[in-house]
Order: sequence, then C-alpha cells, then structure tokens
Amino acid sequence: MVTASAPGKVILFGEHAVVYGEPAIAGAIDLRIRVRAEKTAKSLKITSETKDHRYVEKAVDVVFEHLGEATGLMIDISSDLPPASGLGSSAAVSVATIAAVANLLGHDLGKNEIARLGYKVELGVQGAASPTDTYTTTHGGIQYIQPRKKGFTPIQASLPLVVGYTGIERSTKELVAGVRKLRDAYPELVSPLIKNIGMVTRQARKSLEAGEDVGDLMNINHGLLEALGVSNDALSRLVHASREAGARGAKLTGAGGGGCMIAYTPGRYRDVINAIEGCGSTAMKAAISAEGVRLE
Ligand code: PMV
Repeated sequence: MVTASAPGKVILFGEHAVVYGEPAIAGAIDLRIRVRAEKTAKSLKITSETKDHRYVEKAVDVVFEHLGEATGLMIDISSDLPPASGLGSSAAVSVATIAAVANLLGHDLGKNEIARLGYKVELGVQGAASPTDTYTTTHGGIQYIQPRKKGFTPIQASLPLVVGYTGIERSTKELVAGVRKLRDAYPELVSPLIKNIGMVTRQARKSLEAGEDVGDLMNINHGLLEALGVSNDALSRLVHASREAGARGAKLTGAGGGGCMIAYTPGRYRDVINAIEGCGSTAMKAAISAEGVRLE
C-alpha cells in the first residue's frame, strides 16, 4: 500500500491577465489531497467523497501507459479541499494518483515527469488546460509564471493566508470568455487594465522576494479584477469583511464569479476566519506549502 499527497493552489496575482501573456503568481497551499493506492486482483475501485472520478481514472491510464505496466487497484481519496472551488483539486488528485501508483509499481518518477504526466491528465479530461496547476501542485512553493516564455520561476516567501469559499460553483471557461467580450467591446479601456494587472504582478514578485507586505498589491489586483467584471456580490462581501477584520489585503482568486477569495492575514487569521464565517461562507487557514507532491 502506498499513500501520496499533493497540495491545492491559489493564484496570488495575475489571473485573467495571464491569458493575454502577462505574468501570474501561484502558490501551493497546505491543504492537501491524499491518495492511497493498493494492489488488488480486480480492475479499478475508487472510494472518495466526490462522485467525479474522471481525473483519477485518467491518471491511472496515463501512468500505466507511461510505465508499460498495469495492475488491479483499490484507490481511496481524502481531501482538505472543497471540490470545484478553483483551489486546484483536480490537478492535486491527478498528480498524487500518478505518484502513488508509480511508486506502488516500484518506480520513483522525477517531479518534472510527474508534472508532465499530470498536465496530460488535465488535457485528456478537460480538452484544454494551462500547466500552472499541475506544475504548482507537483513542485510546491510560490511560482512566478511567464506564459510567453512558458517558464516557471520559484519565489522564496512565506505568506499567511485565509481562504474563503463562497460555495458558488463557476465555469472558468465562461468567465474567461466574458473578459474577452469586454476587451473586444472596449479595447482602449480594457487592454490597459490587463497590462496594469501585469504590472501589479511584477511588483508583487519584487515585494515577495524582498519580504515586504503585499496587502496593498492584492487590493489593487482585486480592484482591477472587479473592473474586468469577474467579481460578484459574494466575493466582494468576503473581501471587504476580511479587510475590515484586519486582513492586510484581500482579493478573489482564480476565475472569479464564485469560487474562492484569499486574505493576507499576518497575525489576524482568527478574526478574518470569523468575519468570513459571519457572512455564511466557509473559511480555512492556509499557509503556503513549500512541499509539492510527496509520499506519506
Ligand atoms: O479558477 P482557476 O483557479 O482555474 O483559475 C483560472 C485562471 C484564469 O487566469 C482565469 C484562466 C487561466 O487559464 O489562466
């Protein structure tokens, strides 16, 4: 029996603008998905709290194909992450399944190989995907993403965060399409907003590397995302309640339209959790996880 785990992720800066070639910053968080794999005579049996097993099934296929081996499997999944919340649960479960099954078959895959196979799983299930989630959950830490160079650079920093979950499921694809429509209708107005998000992200990289406070930058980034039309009442309420409770900065994370927000909370996480829960939403303390996928 082998257990592997992998962290969820948040986008700290630059969502949506990254679609237009601007940089983004993603961070692995210490809320993890654990995958326990055991050999059996039967084909594949999966137990988990969620009904959607597509990523696990695809990950098993991809790893069998890669290794040129197969076995009957019993897989059990447990998770700290709410599903379909934009916290990267599909990438985390794909990557942890690959690591667990490969190890069970006696193979120790390198991280770049795991990340590459994880991306293949996401492409196979979704049809289109960015490698950000699979890369970040595999390697851990904070990653500076440069889409034009197709590159990831680690940033060394620690960041006390609270994640607030609106409970509203949303479609990343529709939100990305909405921004494109707005940009096509008002290019002179919307293109500078996108460029501005890129500038905020570049400054955030410098500030994080210098160990400086990034609260103001998060607030500016959220304002620009509001202008792009991807926030909503639930997200804005959680963002403002967090700031009023003492968060240094707060913004939506990921596609918006529901899903999650993050609050940067040095020393104040309890007050911020209470404020978010006071709005009827779920709140979780989440620090950056330096560690990506690992065997337990
Ligand atoms: O909601 P998430 O975490 O899948 O993030 C989407 C991020 C976008 O920038 C909106 C889209 C993308 O593909 O980068």
